[in-house]
Amino acid sequence: MRAKLTIVGLLAACAGALGALTFIPGAVETFLPKRSMTTVGQAMVGGPFEMTNQAGERVRDEAYRGKLMLVYFGFTYCPDICPAGLQVMTAALDELGKDADKVAPIFITVDPERDTPEQMKRYLDSFHPGLVGLTGSAKDVDKAAKAYRVYYRKAEDAALSEYTMDHTSFIYLMDVNGRYITHFAHAVEPDKLAARLRREIAQIGG
Ligand code: NI
Repeated sequence: MRAKLTIVGLLAACAGALGALTFIPGAVETFLPKRSMTTVGQAMVGGPFEMTNQAGERVRDEAYRGKLMLVYFGFTYCPDICPAGLQVMTAALDELGKDADKVAPIFITVDPERDTPEQMKRYLDSFHPGLVGLTGSAKDVDKAAKAYRVYYRKAEDAALSEYTMDHTSFIYLMDVNGRYITHFAHAVEPDKLAARLRREIAQIGG
């Protein structure tokens, strides 16, 4: 009963046209190109990755077998979308209490240039303590993003001193074997996410 994943150009502009407009008078809002992907079968979302965690250790996706994976791509300089997504994940995991240890929440950067392991560690201190922050080489990131069908792009803005990143902002739920179950919008209700996690945990628990 796992529905096929249809991505209808749901992209998040972390650049925050909003941020630009708030802080830089006269900044022009930029829009992401409309991008519709065709229907993607579940087997096509997810796959192997090897990256560096916030402790500086190399880890592979296989390290999380036996746990559900909650995978979210973003970057630490993101002004609003990523913090919102990570807050939702944190709130849902808090709701689970002890069962949260059956879930591996993973934040994968799309901005390895700035997101060093140290930066990831500092940033994740504000969120659930179980969160794993993964970074690596541009190639590492590209491989992980491709596996999850995640779109990302560096967005330069002459009006801003810092570049930003456009990126897909789904939260992916993967089963204990690393296979795709479903995905959520980054602004999903924490209760809804927690309820789904409980259901999946009940299935693996027995
Ligand atoms: Ni973001």
